[in-house]
Amino acid sequence: MSSKVSVIGAGNVGATCAQRVAQGGYADVVLLDIVNGMPQGKSVDMMHSHPVVGSISNITGTNNYEDTAGSDVVVITSGSARKPGMDRRDLAFTNAEVIKSVVPQVLEHSPDCVIIMVTNPLDTMAYLALKLSNLPKNRVMGMSGVLDTARFRAIIAAELDVSVEDVSACILGAHGDTMAPIPRLTTVGCVPITELLSKEEIDRLVDRAVHSGAEIVSLLKNGSAFYAPGVSAAQMAEAVVLDSKRILPVAAYLEGEFGLSGIYLGVPAKVGARGVEQILEFELTADEKVALGKSAQTVRDLVTDLDLS
Ligand code: NAI
Ligand code: 2OP
Repeated sequence: MSSKVSVIGAGNVGATCAQRVAQGGYADVVLLDIVNGMPQGKSVDMMHSHPVVGSISNITGTNNYEDTAGSDVVVITSGSARKPGMDRRDLAFTNAEVIKSVVPQVLEHSPDCVIIMVTNPLDTMAYLALKLSNLPKNRVMGMSGVLDTARFRAIIAAELDVSVEDVSACILGAHGDTMAPIPRLTTVGCVPITELLSKEEIDRLVDRAVHSGAEIVSLLKNGSAFYAPGVSAAQMAEAVVLDSKRILPVAAYLEGEFGLSGIYLGVPAKVGARGVEQILEFELTADEKVALGKSAQTVRDLVTDLDLS
């Protein structure tokens, strides 16, 4: 197969993402982890699913970056996940060290790749990857909005008893408690949810969506969400490999868009072979600007705390 997607970190999110990409049949997959045998074992298991699901992709499990050479896309999921009582920010210092060791090794073998960051705290780790890699900004993006809007879409669809496929959601900002859902641009069919639900109902659904990650952590007790995150990252990888120009909510590096600069935040973007090919900017209301500004400040604060700027 001519396209190659490597997934760094073969834990819950990485393995789910690798499986989804491989089952898509559009790229070979390399799954890498520091734990000996684990990515190899998961890869053999996944390969055994291919006669059933009908995929011809190859999956290689490895502890060696040489196997990732020439990747078109590298999805980075390596690092610690949240435990109950932890915020995504609590992961920052440990995961920054992991990203500092991973990114140079990725670039050594795949200098032309597009990086999709998944490791938390997402917006800050994407920023760190951009700085470490010296890649053009379009080739480093973060996965957050696909997941956050998927959660919001699923919650709205359940509330209104409609197909999730007909719900489209808009969420801007950081992957965290300050993310900024935009209900007036969140639609069922072509109808904004502000026409279908009261403000109190929308606030309740927004609150559930914003705190879905924490809800799952408190139920799992020993890790965080991975099914929806894994397939969300795979959707972004697919858009790059197939150059499909999907409009997806991604964490992108902003240089003036939405009045913000020098920071990664979730925005709608065209995703294709060159990564983030265009950010789709639109006019925000005064309240939305305030919410996005607050979200941006949390990311800036963490970048400063980690001494990354
Ligand atoms: P996990 O603990 O199941 O897997 C992490 C894997 O990374 C482990 O297998 C570990 O051995 C590996 N690893 C650690 N250091 C490494 C290194 N230097 N090189 C290669 N591999 C290394 O965790 P899970 O659930 O897969 O989550 C992974 C990350 O993704 C976490 O930081 C989590 O917070 C984040 N996440 C982000 C989401 C988002 O929307 N951006 C959603 C869900 C999770
Ligand atoms: C989530 O949103 C922990 O970021 C992860 O589930």
